[in-house]
Amino acid sequence: MITVTGVSGNLGRIVIEDLLTRVPATELVAIARTPEKVADLAERGVEVRRGDYDDPASLREAFAGSDVLQFVSGSDVTPGVRQRQHTDVVDAAKAAGVGRVVYTSAIHAQDGPGFLADHGFTENLLRDSGVPHTLLRNTFYEEVLVNPGLKEVVATGELKAADEGNPVNFATIRDMGLAASRVLTEDGHAGATYEIRGPLWTIEELARTVAEVSGKPVAYRAVPVDELGPLGFVYQLIASDLFSEPSEDLERLLGRPATPLRTAVEAALQD
Ligand SMILES: NC(=O)c1ccc[n+]([C@@H]2O[C@H](COP(=O)([O-])OP(=O)(O)OC[C@H]3O[C@@H](n4cnc5c(N)ncnc54)[C@H](OP(=O)(O)O)[C@@H]3O)[C@@H](O)[C@H]2O)c1
Repeated sequence: MITVTGVSGNLGRIVIEDLLTRVPATELVAIARTPEKVADLAERGVEVRRGDYDDPASLREAFAGSDVLQFVSGSDVTPGVRQRQHTDVVDAAKAAGVGRVVYTSAIHAQDGPGFLADHGFTENLLRDSGVPHTLLRNTFYEEVLVNPGLKEVVATGELKAADEGNPVNFATIRDMGLAASRVLTEDGHAGATYEIRGPLWTIEELARTVAEVSGKPVAYRAVPVDELGPLGFVYQLIASDLFSEPSEDLERLLGRPATPLRTAVEAALQD
């Protein structure tokens, strides 16, 4: 039986939808803290169980009988919260006898900036638990930069950035979900750590691609990071060269190249 947490979220939904194309619904369990949010899955024959990272007893019941558990990292980044929640998740997985845990870790989980430390902490918990596991060290979602907001870039003819010319290896959330689904359903992934990365591209290339796809001129313009609003945080990380390491793990898991930048831009600019 394959159990999946975070099914009401973006990544978990992609994972469970792909699993439904690979294994019978009766072999899947969807875990949500609010089961009503995923009532459609129950209607399609997936057993839905309540599991709340803030309620350890619910987790032990939710994980019972699980051969493989997709553990989607929690979304509450208040300092201390995820470390407590993830400790309870790993303890519950061990107590329930889960056969293998697949964890959505993060790029530079062990050596990155502080906000990634929860992932390094959770990797260590899994290692110390003795429960067989697979680490998916996900890069940032490409959608943070390649999204319908690019229509505004086309309208203004200018892509403002503070990237210092460093490349990024973002990947689409869909590719990451599909890779997780493979890792959940195939043998041979226990003990593995995968560096999940898409193709490298620069923000200047992004501007050129937006121009090509839209047929309108788009200029790349370097600006101070404080002119970039909420994206300033992402650009600070790009400028610090956090995303320049390539890896072929995603491509190997998918059995095809990761989604090219142009394809993602075409999707973002669609009406
Ligand atoms: N790689 C990246 O760029 C990136 C970006 C953002 C986040 N992340 C991380 O990756 C995870 C998955 O991404 P996403 O886009 O799918 O996030 P998302 O859409 O926010 O989904 C988060 C999921 O976690 C569930 N969750 C949150 N708190 C929970 C709790 N106390 N107990 C049980 N379930 C809980 C949510 O359930 P509810 O529907 O009940 O809230 C939801 O299903 C995030 O949670 C975060 O840790 C990665």
